[in-house]
Amino acid sequence: MPNLKYQVLLVLVIFASCLSNNSNKSPIYIPRTIEFPKFKLKVPGGWEKLDVHDSVKGSLTNGKDTLFFEFGENVPIVGREDVDSNVFAMDTIDGFLANVVMPISKERIYIRMSIEGVYSKTNFFIECKNAKNVEDILDIITSIQFPEGDKHLGYQLTKSDFSQIGGNNEKGGQIYRTHCETCHHVTRNILGPSFEEILKIRDRKWLTRYLTDPKFKYKDGISKDWEKSSGGLECIAPHTLTQSDVAELYKYIKYMQYYYSHPVY
Ligand code: HEC
Repeated sequence: MPNLKYQVLLVLVIFASCLSNNSNKSPIYIPRTIEFPKFKLKVPGGWEKLDVHDSVKGSLTNGKDTLFFEFGENVPIVGREDVDSNVFAMDTIDGFLANVVMPISKERIYIRMSIEGVYSKTNFFIECKNAKNVEDILDIITSIQFPEGDKHLGYQLTKSDFSQIGGNNEKGGQIYRTHCETCHHVTRNILGPSFEEILKIRDRKWLTRYLTDPKFKYKDGISKDWEKSSGGLECIAPHTLTQSDVAELYKYIKYMQYYYSHPVY
């Protein structure tokens, strides 16, 4: 005969664990008021305050242009929804991948930049609305340094770095479509390995050499493995592109990589 005392104990333990599961923060479904440090507002059922401990906001101005910035979790990211109406530039700012956008239309120039994943989940966003001096704004936003950034990878963006990535007239996309698209995709392996996979192993400098120097006939174990998994097919990329072609192509690949990893909101 099983011990009754243990059976009762078991039932109690199960009951207690159910209770503690239910008491985990479940959303509150009644309309209520949420308070913030300087204001409060009313929300319908289901809305909750997000705990953003480390958000820092601020702005700076010279009287003509004003920059507004925000740093923290859940800070907006300059994303793919802007593709049709903006020109893009993407590069490394203090070692982090930064995405910068400006509108195609010259009438109202805003400049927005975001950097994702500074200190893992923290994003940085900075914006200038109605920019009067675009070059100055670009100088300021690309001068940003983070305590944990990498000072060796600094880069100075200029207006000429902007192009409409993904647009028909954009050089990097043209090179990609003419010479690479049949066999490579940015994120998927098709006939050849994806550029995402390639760029985990080869860097920008290597890629530049591969595509600009006909004498650089490179094959190591990794190339041979790729060749094997492509059924013995070899890359037919031209080795006669110019440095600036490769820079454009690289920018395009980087942008598309970003694009695929950010679904439309
Ligand atoms: C006919 C199909 C084809 C085309 C077109 C093609 N590739 Fe490839 N590519 C491959 C295959 C297959 C591999 C893997 C085997 C190899 O390395 O040769 C590869 C490998 C590569 C590698 C890795 C080489 C290594 O050893 O690390 C790079 C980089 C690359 N391709 C870039 C490009 C670029 C850039 C373009 C366009 C300018 C391009 N490829 C066009 C088929 C192609």
